[in-house]
Amino acid sequence: MALTDETPVTARSTDPLGTVIPSTVPTHWYNLAADLPEPVPPHLHPGTREPLGPEDLAPLFPAALIAQEVSTERYVEIPQTVREIYALWRPSPLIRAARLERAIGTQARIYYKYEGVSPVGSHKPNTAVAQAYYNAVEGITRLTTETGAGQWGASLSMACALLGLTCEVWQVRASYDAKPYRRFQMETYGSVCHPSPSDLTEAGRAILAEHPDTTGSLGMAISEAVEAAVKDPGAHYSLGSVLNHVMLHQSVIGQEVLVQLADAGERQADTVFGCAGGGSNLAGLTFPLIGQNLRDGTTTRVVACEPAACPSLTQGEYRYDHGDVAGLTPLLKMHTLGKDFVPPSIHAGGLRYHGMAPMVSHAVNLGLMEAVAVDQDTAFAAGVEFARAEGIIPAPESTHAVAAALAHARSVTEPEVVVIGLSGNGVLDLPAYSSYV
Ligand SMILES: Cc1ncc(COP(=O)(O)O)c(C=O)c1O
Repeated sequence: MALTDETPVTARSTDPLGTVIPSTVPTHWYNLAADLPEPVPPHLHPGTREPLGPEDLAPLFPAALIAQEVSTERYVEIPQTVREIYALWRPSPLIRAARLERAIGTQARIYYKYEGVSPVGSHKPNTAVAQAYYNAVEGITRLTTETGAGQWGASLSMACALLGLTCEVWQVRASYDAKPYRRFQMETYGSVCHPSPSDLTEAGRAILAEHPDTTGSLGMAISEAVEAAVKDPGAHYSLGSVLNHVMLHQSVIGQEVLVQLADAGERQADTVFGCAGGGSNLAGLTFPLIGQNLRDGTTTRVVACEPAACPSLTQGEYRYDHGDVAGLTPLLKMHTLGKDFVPPSIHAGGLRYHGMAPMVSHAVNLGLMEAVAVDQDTAFAAGVEFARAEGIIPAPESTHAVAAALAHARSVTEPEVVVIGLSGNGVLDLPAYSSYV
């Protein structure tokens, strides 16, 4: 049928609504690859060990995300529909932690960038919305993914609900059992959530045959979600961290920080702390600041804060490894504890990943950022201290950054600007706090 003026046009879920977007919502994502002194090592084909071509990734990702994965453009325009959704919670606040400063008696001026204001309570929707959008535009109807604590699964579930996709999530068994509320959140958005390893995939069945009592890991759950996507031509896979395009989408965090610090009258952040699981909130917060260091000569110091129980940056090897346990994903050059490493089931489920994003690993290797490991009790003690001074209960993941920042702030002898990445809130993690306090 030819379209005429009278033909009713059905709006697609990816069409902009035409709502007014505040000018403070970023218009572009920032790509550190444009400013790096050496290029990020390419991802390799697991069979040939040759750099991946776009056709290798096509079964898993839409063309736009594959292009972003290898892009070296400094700025990538954010689609209008994605900006409209971002406007629900962006710009997220940068808050001066004045009570915390007083409580610990520091000379540092401490700020925290709070991503817990998103509808699901973490930074993860910054990329979930972008990924769901590009998949929907390409005609994909179903996304599969893994999740640890459930923050990512809930984020992708929300994004899929808003953009008209169905979503199936494999959640690491330890978190599936211990953290049912995020599963309820996913189900409320219309997703299906399975404990991983499950008997629904070959990868899951093989793992269960060898380790029937395993608590699961992100690497196992990734294998299951990838396999499910590859077997369904209408489906794609979506990853909540690690890949370059995820780092790109999260750059809205750090770009806002640059503007907000300037508005607060600060010349630069002196030391920035971000927790690191797969590396996405850390990259999002700090890559725009590292870019400014490289281009404009600022001297911001960046500290990646990882759990002592899963110390990929401080203890892992920097080499090519698979992103998952079954070896289905491309080979990524990263700091890794080995794809078969099963971390102990710590409360910060989102930090239980054997590897680290290639871009973060590369930045550490180039000396553009440092890394520290924080043990769970120290992290929770800092989370409680933060909650009692500032009112916000940090996500267990975020407490790792808080702990390292507090130790630093207590030791400074001159005034300086400290920024903490508060990647999420812990209101659905209260059983973890209750076992600590
Ligand atoms: C609140 C929060 N912070 C941090 C992370 C760690 O992930 P990434 O290193 O990709 O930011 C997670 C992962 O689920 C999370 O939920």
